Amino acid sequence: MRFNDLPLALSILLLAPSPSSAFYLPGVAPTSYKTGDKVPLTVNHLTPSRSARDTQVRSVFSFDYYHHAFHFCPPEGGPKYISESLGSILFGDRIQTSPFELRMGINETCKAVCEEQTFEPRDAKFVNRRIWQNYNMNWLVDGLPAGQLQEDTNTHTTFYSPGFALGSVREDTPRLNNHYDIQIDFHQHSKDQYRVVGILVEPYSLRDSKSLGDGKAECGDSSAPLALSEKENTGVTFTYSVYWVPSATSFATRWDKYLHVYDPKIHWFSLINSAVIVFFLIGMVATILVRTLRKDIARYNRLDQLGLEDFSGTSVEDTVQEDSGWKLVHGDVFRPPKNPMILSVLLGNGAQLFMMTGFTIVFALLGFLSPSNRGSLGTVMILLYTLFGFVSGYISARVYKAFQGDAWKQNFAFTPLALPSVVFATFFLLNLFVWARQSSGAVPFTTMLVIVGIWFIISVPLSVAGSWIGFRTPIAPPPTHVNQIPRQIPPSTGYLRPLPSMLLTGVLPFGAIFVELYFIMNSIWFSKIYYMFGFLFLCYGLMITTSAAVTVLIVYFLLCAENYHWQWRAFCTSGASAIYVFLYAMLYWARMLSFGSWTSGVLYLGYSALLSALFFVLTGTIGFFASWLFVHKIYGSLKID
Ligand SMILES: *[C@@H]1O[C@H](CO)[C@@H](O)[C@H](O)[C@H]1NC(C)=O
Repeated sequence: MRFNDLPLALSILLLAPSPSSAFYLPGVAPTSYKTGDKVPLTVNHLTPSRSARDTQVRSVFSFDYYHHAFHFCPPEGGPKYISESLGSILFGDRIQTSPFELRMGINETCKAVCEEQTFEPRDAKFVNRRIWQNYNMNWLVDGLPAGQLQEDTNTHTTFYSPGFALGSVREDTPRLNNHYDIQIDFHQHSKDQYRVVGILVEPYSLRDSKSLGDGKAECGDSSAPLALSEKENTGVTFTYSVYWVPSATSFATRWDKYLHVYDPKIHWFSLINSAVIVFFLIGMVATILVRTLRKDIARYNRLDQLGLEDFSGTSVEDTVQEDSGWKLVHGDVFRPPKNPMILSVLLGNGAQLFMMTGFTIVFALLGFLSPSNRGSLGTVMILLYTLFGFVSGYISARVYKAFQGDAWKQNFAFTPLALPSVVFATFFLLNLFVWARQSSGAVPFTTMLVIVGIWFIISVPLSVAGSWIGFRTPIAPPPTHVNQIPRQIPPSTGYLRPLPSMLLTGVLPFGAIFVELYFIMNSIWFSKIYYMFGFLFLCYGLMITTSAAVTVLIVYFLLCAENYHWQWRAFCTSGASAIYVFLYAMLYWARMLSFGSWTSGVLYLGYSALLSALFFVLTGTIGFFASWLFVHKIYGSLKID
């Protein structure tokens, strides 16, 4: 089994928040080495990236380090997989052992990794193409990624950027890097106890390197670079040197130089920007709620009394009929919407997503999901999503009950099955493309089985239990009675028509998150480490508030226009920010990515659409429940006999 982190993740869930003020908690216990101890170097998949020459990413596929075409030397007895967490595997990590021999504190120059390798033209073509696409190597030493020293031109500070280039392109010729200068920073913890605190790799392309057998080699000169011929066989010797450099960085802060904030000003600027929008919105909604509504309610209730006392001849309805406004639809506003089953199932799933995202962000904020614990983010997300199956069942059942649905069995079954199967089917389909390209990003079949297993063994029963409780708990009747005959709805005009209202309102929650979205996309497509969870937390809060406020506003206008079909409208207008998220993904594609193959495009489109759809359900749910509260509140304060 390669999943060793589930018990760990479970225990993380049960841990109380630590009072530690550290930005992150080190996820792994420190390993100390004595001088001369072997420090293992493990290799992860090769990932596409950007380079100084070419600022666009040209592929989405990652490749296994031991893909036959690369001819990288395997260790004796073949490479072995290092056990990883479920999240780590899902997010593409394929970590394996390597033949590199690093001995703590012992410098070595020009060692051969193995005997000379022969690249046939077919393999050379493959590797050259990967070099053109700026593929990066991803090595790990003691859990730390091997990086390259980079300078931030804005702040003139240097930092370690994970990954280093497979090759480079000069004068239109791809050069393969076959020599690695490995610099390891180490920190003396106590007498003869050393810890690894940083790794830099400087790769070189050396044509004239020769293996002398027995691990020894003669390294060529960097003025004669190595290019793989696509016409005839090319012999390549892979070599490496190791330099151990003492460092003052302690083990606890070793990640700091990897986690570089590019431009905190942009973050703060956008955050303040969104905060202003949100406060403006809340101000607007508050004005409406407090001033207009109170006036409305007072007037309606006064008319109510007048109607009873003074105009004893005429009915209340007649008097109010003169007026227009949301009171008129009090007999219809709690009429169940069309397709109550679909809506309640979506809302249940939306609540589940909402809880999962919220809790994940809070956990990350508290420092539980440190980058040193590879894949912990993914693992915790899956785990939380599974556990919150209970919430989805409960919410779905409650809403369905309020909608007076009676197909109970379907509701019980659809809630845990409908949306997840759509997601899983899409995921499976997209995975076929990845698999067909021989990319290591394809999720292994066994991992898929494990996910399906977790789903059916834990999540589905939890959801059904939630549904059962939601179904058994009695529900309060709506504040106003539903009339027998539905009222006619005047045709909606202007911005109240469905599409304009969606496009208009959707842009605001999107505005609260779009800068953070840029960094999240960078972390997904450029395999950058994302860790700005403080910003993410604030943005999530702003997004919730904006979605809620703007949807309440639209629902109020809708009810004033005597349209009582607010349920689906609230869900869709709030969810419409997902349309912008999708458009943003397309814009990002145009600006930052330039795919060489259509399969990359299909994959990017597919995942963008899938994530946008889930985002639709999430924000739609927020908008719906905000409107639900609002509608119950305002009709609850009317006096209607
Ligand atoms: C190893 O190499 C580094 C970098 O050249 C140097 O700073 C360090 O002193 C060397 N260590 C030993 C033990 O020679």
